[in-house]
Amino acid sequence: MPIDVSAPPLRRARTIPVHRVLPNFARDPANTLADIGGQVDGELVRLGLGPFRPYLVTRPDHVQQVLKSDWTSYQREGMFWRPLRRVLGASILGEGEPWESSRRALQPLFTTRRVASLAERMAEIINERMDELDEYAGSGRLVNAAEQMARIVNAAIVGALFGGRISRADGERLAPAYDTAAGSITFRLVMPFMPYSIRVPGDRAFMKAVETIDEVVFPLIRKARADSSGGPDVISALCDLRDDDEAGNRQIRDDLVSVYGAASESTAMTLTWLWPLLDAHPEIAARLQEEIDGVVGSGPVAAGHVPELRYTRMVLQELLRLYPAGWIFPRMAMRDGEIGGVRIKAGSQVLISPYATHRLEEFWERPLEFDPERFAPGDRPRRHKYAYFPFGGGPHQCLGQHLFYVEAPLLLGAILGRFRIGVRSKGPFTAAAAASLRPKQDIELEITRAGRVAGGVR
Ligand code: HEM
Repeated sequence: MPIDVSAPPLRRARTIPVHRVLPNFARDPANTLADIGGQVDGELVRLGLGPFRPYLVTRPDHVQQVLKSDWTSYQREGMFWRPLRRVLGASILGEGEPWESSRRALQPLFTTRRVASLAERMAEIINERMDELDEYAGSGRLVNAAEQMARIVNAAIVGALFGGRISRADGERLAPAYDTAAGSITFRLVMPFMPYSIRVPGDRAFMKAVETIDEVVFPLIRKARADSSGGPDVISALCDLRDDDEAGNRQIRDDLVSVYGAASESTAMTLTWLWPLLDAHPEIAARLQEEIDGVVGSGPVAAGHVPELRYTRMVLQELLRLYPAGWIFPRMAMRDGEIGGVRIKAGSQVLISPYATHRLEEFWERPLEFDPERFAPGDRPRRHKYAYFPFGGGPHQCLGQHLFYVEAPLLLGAILGRFRIGVRSKGPFTAAAAASLRPKQDIELEITRAGRVAGGVR
């Protein structure tokens, strides 16, 4: 908000000193932010993180100001975002004109109705992947939860974005290329002031990964242009919208690469956190299982099952409260202003963390407890709209919310229709310092086939 001269004088925010932030932040970044947010009751503070001191914004009204009412003053610019632009280009994940035109083009492709048209194809792909899980079932071999969730989610997202135009081999080149790009960008994120004319560790692997992504995506755009039959997939819709010239195709590439990036890791990581939670809450697991047995049975899962999986949706909503994959998203103050009576200077970094806000006791009873009943339909305690914002808010609100609430129930319906899952790694599991909330430790799962008995499932 611009400074109001008639208002009380602005305060300076308290700084949490570096020795209280840095060691804990390196060990367990998400809980460090949540602990600090809780200790100061959501007051605006600065985090001593060495050379820069970003503001931590956790109170729902402050979050609303940054994301919505005053969003043009707090933009996705600055040191955290610059390195990402080298892979994402000028796209929906940026700001300004490129973001605006991409948002306008992409938004209609992710409405409830459009997502419903992609659901059948996603269900088919997810069901196919179950046959591969079956190879593990009963073999005694453990599977890595994050790897398996990523494998299934990536295939479903690639199907939704590219339809039947992409070979499995090409689809499977994308995931490791993204992983390499994400892993090799760390130096640039930590030392964002280094000029790009100077090569730094990770640069070569990063550029190679971007090359691989382009080798897969550009031919697909050409293929979609040549085949005018148009499917319900996103690439066909983008080809209809954008000019068939170098600039138009580059824009399609940037948006596809950005949407794939935003969609795949976030969904896969969210679902990874579910298994230890279900393991620790057998009564919730049993109710979920009962719903899936009743709706999906032994499968295959189908798009028509999704609206009936009501408890599954509540479980997913509560899962996203405790483990919002976008656990931190940075903004840069574009001009001098204030938040909650604190002066914010142009150029400052502001950090928003749903992980921290979702754990504030003032807004959530028993905030650390996993309790899907919080999202039961009917009378719910009235809460500030921005006490819960796993998908962000304001003009940059996630485009993939409907897609998530179709894809995730399909995936759970398919898995729990056919298998029983046991967690074999010992917790507690903590989040690593990564762009999305990813468990630091491996979560190993044992998969067994659901026993069929006359009239039901054992
Ligand atoms: C559990 C799953 C997901 C979570 C937790 C999540 C979270 C978020 C959050 C917090 C933002 C706002 C970022 C910001 O304000 O800077 C965002 C933006 C975005 N998400 Fe998601 N997302 C998820 C899944 C998806 C999926 C499946 C898609 C696929 C279409 C998607 C596409 C996008 C896009 C395109 C944006 C940028 C929107 C804009 O800036 O206009 N997300 N997401």
